[in-house]
Amino acid sequence: MYTEKVMDHFQNPRNVGEIDNASGVGTVGNAKCGDIMRIYLDIDDEQVIKDVKFKTFGCGAAVATSSMATELVKGKSIYDALKVTNKAVMEALDGLPPVKVHCSLLAEEAIHAALWDYAEKHGIKIEGLKKPKSDIHEDEEGEEEEY
Ligand code: FES
Repeated sequence: MYTEKVMDHFQNPRNVGEIDNASGVGTVGNAKCGDIMRIYLDIDDEQVIKDVKFKTFGCGAAVATSSMATELVKGKSIYDALKVTNKAVMEALDGLPPVKVHCSLLAEEAIHAALWDYAEKHGIKIEGLKKPKSDIHEDEEGEEEEY
């Protein structure tokens, strides 16, 4: 049911971990299954993503899509990273079964949430970036939550 690329990224996920003093951190939850993902971005003065790490409490498809998403945004400018949609990630993985498409949204949303965090910390506005909808934050009635 999974492509070879999905199996590869699930069994050998890239960029798993955390970044101390990350430029931006985004944590999101998947409304459909309750799985959670956190992305850490290290962004330099030129607004290029030098490093990225992720942690997830999610299914195999969520692990594989996060792994591929981190590979796709690494080395990119924040604006190019914004263009890495869940569709682009799925294409890079040669597709996902229809019932697993929602899992790929976690990575996209987590990257957007981390970029939003970066923008807020640095007092800048990233054109085209919408305030992330996070189930976790919504549950907290708008309060930012740290784990
Ligand atoms: Fe939860 Fe895939 S089933 S992220």
